[in-house]
Amino acid sequence: MSSSVVHLKEMGLTRWVFTTSDKSQIPEPITKGTGDGLGLQELSDSKWVELQNRVSDCQLCSLHGSRHNTVFGTGNPKAHWMLVGEAPGAEEDRQGQPFVGRAGQLLSAMLFSLNLSRHTVFIGNVLKCRPPDNRDPLGDEVRQCAPFLHEQIRSIQPRIILAMGRFAAQALLQADQSIAQLRGRVHCYPINDTPLVVTYHPAYLLRSPQAKAKTWEDLQRARAHYVGQVCGDQ
Ligand code: URA
Repeated sequence: MSSSVVHLKEMGLTRWVFTTSDKSQIPEPITKGTGDGLGLQELSDSKWVELQNRVSDCQLCSLHGSRHNTVFGTGNPKAHWMLVGEAPGAEEDRQGQPFVGRAGQLLSAMLFSLNLSRHTVFIGNVLKCRPPDNRDPLGDEVRQCAPFLHEQIRSIQPRIILAMGRFAAQALLQADQSIAQLRGRVHCYPINDTPLVVTYHPAYLLRSPQAKAKTWEDLQRARAHYVGQVCGDQ
């Protein structure tokens, strides 16, 4: 048994491993072309840095008063896959990085099952600051913070967005339906029509491992639309 299969087994994800024939259909996560000879890449790089600075200086809501660090997101700023969670937890607040706790380990295993890694995708959150005591984000906090996420998506221009959990799904789709209502189809992210798939949050999967099978269906749906680049219900 290969060490990667052992690793997935440890995560309880044995059934999530692609067969060899499945794997052959997954395009390598390619970094989009950079540099156009016109200095446009440098321009977008500087906008990205400016966005990072605006996030780290942000005082738009009261969460700035209790945070240790903002959590901008991590990964490839030109990624084809973008994954969006809810908000930093205690460990993320300490380290300034998203998904570094147990839910993050599960997320890494989910990525691994898709032949992706934290370095090839971009992982962000709806909120860039930790809500105290891990409470749910408030409507005002989402309203103040979501524009940063929309700017990130506009800059990254991912080919597929995976919204993990209710808050990410509702914020990205500007919807108020439940996760059960939003799962099971491919949405269009309204700002630029990127295909968007809704799935369960990894922290929920830790509590409810029986939902992993549905999550696996969601990941396959996302992979199919990443390959096919079709936006809308199929
Ligand atoms: N949960 C999230 O939604 N985001 C993180 O970064 C960590 C846990």
